[in-house]
Amino acid sequence: MSELQFRTPKGTHDVLPEDHQYMTYIKKAVRHRARQAGYKRIDTPMFENKAIFERGIGQHTDIVEKELFLVTGKREEDASDAQFALRPELTAGICRSYIEHGMQQLPQPVELYAIGQCFRHDRPQKGRYRQFHQFDFEVIGLKDPSLDAQLIFALVKIFQDLRIMDRLTLQINNIGSAENRKTYVDALKDFFIGKERHLSEQDRSRLQTNPLRLLDSKEEDTQILLKSAPMFEQFLTDESKEYHATLLEYLDELGITYVQNPRLVRGLDYYTQTVFEFWDQSSGAQNAVGGGGRYDGLIELLGGKPTPGVGVACGMERIIWHMKEAGVKVPNKDQVDVFVAQLGPEAKKQCLTLVSHLREMGVHTIGALGEASLKSQMRHADKFEARYTLLLGKMEVKEGTIILRDMKAGKQKQMKYEQAIPEVIKLLGQENLDTYVLKDQMGETDED
Ligand code: HAM
Repeated sequence: MSELQFRTPKGTHDVLPEDHQYMTYIKKAVRHRARQAGYKRIDTPMFENKAIFERGIGQHTDIVEKELFLVTGKREEDASDAQFALRPELTAGICRSYIEHGMQQLPQPVELYAIGQCFRHDRPQKGRYRQFHQFDFEVIGLKDPSLDAQLIFALVKIFQDLRIMDRLTLQINNIGSAENRKTYVDALKDFFIGKERHLSEQDRSRLQTNPLRLLDSKEEDTQILLKSAPMFEQFLTDESKEYHATLLEYLDELGITYVQNPRLVRGLDYYTQTVFEFWDQSSGAQNAVGGGGRYDGLIELLGGKPTPGVGVACGMERIIWHMKEAGVKVPNKDQVDVFVAQLGPEAKKQCLTLVSHLREMGVHTIGALGEASLKSQMRHADKFEARYTLLLGKMEVKEGTIILRDMKAGKQKQMKYEQAIPEVIKLLGQENLDTYVLKDQMGETDED
């Protein structure tokens, strides 16, 4: 076999039709639960001014420091293009949009959801890609633990719909206000004075740039030192503690089980108060299926008025992986109902109308109206896994008839040409036809 000349770039993958059945299924669950809770859909550009991510997510986070895809533009001399980056997540762009479109004028909270590709120039490994899909929920403009609880509940519902909730655990923590964090970070820095030599080079640099990241350091020495370091909890104000306690009470009320995890800090800087992640029960923090939290300072950081917000995003590839592992089957909407085979110029012409009428009635129809023999067309119909084949040869055209073949049963019968469509519809069942009703036309379609 000759060497393939082109392949998908490292860390990316084609979403092939089989996986799109999962994608569509997930999107349906997401849209359904989002609409039930009053969310509206938004799309922001795939690339944004790089500063939005630097300021929002944080200059010294892995996502910005190491994983940002810069958009350099086509021409090198076009220096302005270098200020753009492909979005590594959706929250910062949505908050930029909230400010840009004056959404603070709308009744608050503004609830938005988005589904789309994100890009992180990470080292590719299982469940970690350079281009992946997220669905994302944001609730902007009000601060109340009941909003955090409702958001988490919507996510739990989606995971239940997709039948993977029993594979996940909800990890939750409160990381206090920005001021709490600052005091804690100062205390942490003080604690590590004179102990730097016990730290790895990476942790030493984290101590300078983003000391909170030491908490989830993988280094054993760092973890040992941390045992006697000041605990974050000591720095939480009563207000933050109360906020968290109320949230947990609400989660209990909603019957949501969670694990309180004081080490959960998340990899993005914009969080305040509530943070949470949905972990895979078997692999823990690695390959979390979703994560989010409250970001009460983000909109202001991006130039808006102080506005609280809370949100979550989930990785769709990771969800698909779980669904497959759990043996969750999704409906195959791409099945071929009828293959139309023909022979001769007259039959071919007639079949064009037949094919379009069948489709109009909601029958998935393939009309590979080539010149091959009827026999080879039948083989073709088999390969397409068509349930029925309609055959129109020269004789049938002359007689005004048509042959309907049940591919599985291997049986066929001849009938009047006019009977073909009603007969196919009867066999498939009216309820299985793929037609748009007005409700669908006003809403969204499966494809987006
Ligand atoms: P995040 O934890 O960075 O949060 O990403 C959310 C989810 O996206 C992860 O739990 C994971 O499932 C998926 N994900 C992240 N990186 C990759 C990757 N390289 N390959 C495959 N899947 C990945 C955020 O993005 C925040 N914007 C969430 C949020 C929304 N916070 C408030 N609102």
